[in-house]
Amino acid sequence: MMRVGFAGLGIMGRGMVKNLAAKGFPVRVWNRTASAAEGLGVKVEVAPTPKALAESADVVITCVADPAAVERVVFADDGVLAGARPGLRYVECSTVSPELARRTAQAFEAHGCAMIEAPVTGSKLGAERGTLLFMAGGPAALVAELEPLLLAMGTRVIHCGPNGQAALMKLVGNGLVSFMLEGLCEGLIVARKGGLSARTVLDVVAASGFASPYFTFKGDAIVRRDFDPHFSIDLLIKDQSLLLAEAADQHTPLPGLAAIREVFQAARAQGLGDEDIAAVVKSLERMAGLGEPSNEA
Ligand SMILES: NC(=O)c1ccc[n+]([C@@H]2O[C@H](COP(=O)([O-])OP(=O)(O)OC[C@H]3O[C@@H](n4cnc5c(N)ncnc54)[C@H](OP(=O)(O)O)[C@@H]3O)[C@@H](O)[C@H]2O)c1
Repeated sequence: MMRVGFAGLGIMGRGMVKNLAAKGFPVRVWNRTASAAEGLGVKVEVAPTPKALAESADVVITCVADPAAVERVVFADDGVLAGARPGLRYVECSTVSPELARRTAQAFEAHGCAMIEAPVTGSKLGAERGTLLFMAGGPAALVAELEPLLLAMGTRVIHCGPNGQAALMKLVGNGLVSFMLEGLCEGLIVARKGGLSARTVLDVVAASGFASPYFTFKGDAIVRRDFDPHFSIDLLIKDQSLLLAEAADQHTPLPGLAAIREVFQAARAQGLGDEDIAAVVKSLERMAGLGEPSNEA
């Protein structure tokens, strides 16, 4: 079994580590806030730095918030690269820019190591249940070599191309999620003001040709007013901004996404940044002059 070093014990990393440990991989972890390793519920060692993590592992997996966090984990004086010896494998599961994924891969190659990117979809429950979908980027042979490791945390790996292509795919996916969620919220609000119940809207959508498990999942959370974070508004804005920057570099206008990002930015300005992305409905309700549904006549 490969010795795994895992950096990042946030919503996603915790579930991924538990699945790796449950499937017998020896795992060492590092997290910026060390106390996150407490209460994981599985036996893992804690490394003092990402460098120490790399020194004792065959493969290092990172799943942290954003590009700045990856820069810290990989490129800092006590980062993964500082502890990387030739032959180390590195797997980037964080959602970052294609440019950072390519630059990180080049840095590992310069150290005689090899990297794939493997951003994920499936959110908190997918990480906990080991049902994530991995979008992989990098050399096909290396993706194939590391696939059994990824499948300890998920159910499918789709190879998207060289490093950078999976990052782009992941951002495209979160652009789509932005449209779906914002559209669902607008529909629920205009329906509510018109006297149509949210349950009726969701039942009809679920039975329709435009049904989606995503509408069912997030629609149900909105009806229950359950905004416990699976994926935070802060992180979705990060991904919208990365996709808009990528598009700007291509001279590709994304007018719809640009407008939708403003809706999420308004939610963040109202203090909802660390709530689940479904909480954007609260911001749209305020714009529409609506209170919490329970307070409505
Ligand atoms: N949640 C989802 O549904 C989902 C789905 C697919 C992909 N993703 C992506 O997966 C990644 C992790 O998401 P998450 O939901 O697990 O995020 P999260 O719960 O907010 O956790 C963020 C993690 O990043 C660490 N971190 C933040 N800034 C850092 C820095 N400057 N240096 C070092 N570590 C830093 C945090 O450490 P501390 O504990 O010290 O704060 C924590 O371990 C993100 O790129 C996200 O876009 C998330």
